[in-house]
Amino acid sequence: MTKIRAKISGIHCYAPPYILTNKELEGMVDTSDEWIVSRTGIRERHIQKGEGLGTSDMGAEAVKGLLEKTNTSPDDIDLVICATVTPDMMFPAASNLISHKTGIKNAFSFDMNAACSGLMFAIITATRYIESGASKKVIVVGADKMSSITDYTNRETCILFGDAAGALLLEPTTEDVGIMDSIFGTDGSGYPYLHMKAGGSLRPASYETIDAKEHFIFQEGQSVFKFAVTKMADVSAEIMKKNNLTSEDVAWLVPHQANLRIIDATARRMGISKDQVMINIQRYGNTTGATIPLCLWEWEDKLKKGDNIILAAFGGGFTWGSVWVKWAY
Ligand code: UT7
Repeated sequence: MTKIRAKISGIHCYAPPYILTNKELEGMVDTSDEWIVSRTGIRERHIQKGEGLGTSDMGAEAVKGLLEKTNTSPDDIDLVICATVTPDMMFPAASNLISHKTGIKNAFSFDMNAACSGLMFAIITATRYIESGASKKVIVVGADKMSSITDYTNRETCILFGDAAGALLLEPTTEDVGIMDSIFGTDGSGYPYLHMKAGGSLRPASYETIDAKEHFIFQEGQSVFKFAVTKMADVSAEIMKKNNLTSEDVAWLVPHQANLRIIDATARRMGISKDQVMINIQRYGNTTGATIPLCLWEWEDKLKKGDNIILAAFGGGFTWGSVWVKWAY
């Protein structure tokens, strides 16, 4: 029997227009452009401004563009998965709102919370639905309004994050392209190093949690850095070894964009030169679910059918993973 794979057949992203520069941050907290660039590689990030706008609005912009670009009717979409840690509200899922805002009526939808690895967890879930024959046209969205959970008086975190959304269309193919293999891992013992303390069932919102600034990202940067460098490099090297891929076989590495030093370490470990690594952290910062789509979108016209691409991520949870994609168009 011919194997059915899932292929990525389109991509579109949205970043809100307001740009928060390192210079502006210098006026908000005790930091400097020099420190931010040398420690992270980030120069600016997009921020969603304006009342009444949430993650689903950015996601909907990305999906509308994707449907138009791929000439796809919203009626034909049968599943929508949104990877996010900043849904518009605790429930319903952001994916439900995105479907509603884009006229997708024949799909079921749900959110996936795997922090910075969420988009890849969503891609592989969509892949399984397609491979099983259960779904034919799936939209995977990675969207985060990180500014909604960022404390702009905390210099350790406020320099890192930005807002954006990316949407991918996945469809079945019998060609030898698409999502070829993946490796994933999670380790809940990593939670103390990166989490949001309140707003969940453990510590519901109260005056106390607000006063203690517990509705913002909490991160022990150095500890997360150590895990991220090791895990992202390990898992990327592992997927190459498992599939007998050499550095010459790999056209592109698409790493989660959290810190340029983590990206460089991963590329070194894979033996991949820097010009084969998609890097746009300098202009977007860490947009959590949207980093990988933002890269693929900006590099889309350079990609060729059959290109071997390795996606790699590490995030809160801890969560990590790598996906081997053969580009399909
Ligand atoms: O995407 C999800 C996963 N997250 C990650 O992968 C993030 C991983 N971590 C990191 O990327 C890095 O740890 C950070 C960028 C967050 C921090 O960089 P670092 O090189 O680990 O800095 P550090 O936390 O060790 O801080 C070094 C110094 C400290 O001062 P002292 O104690 O040496 O006097 C900090 O207080 O830099 C200080 N510092 C700052 N200085 C200027 C921390 N933040 C800033 C800042 N501006 N924004």
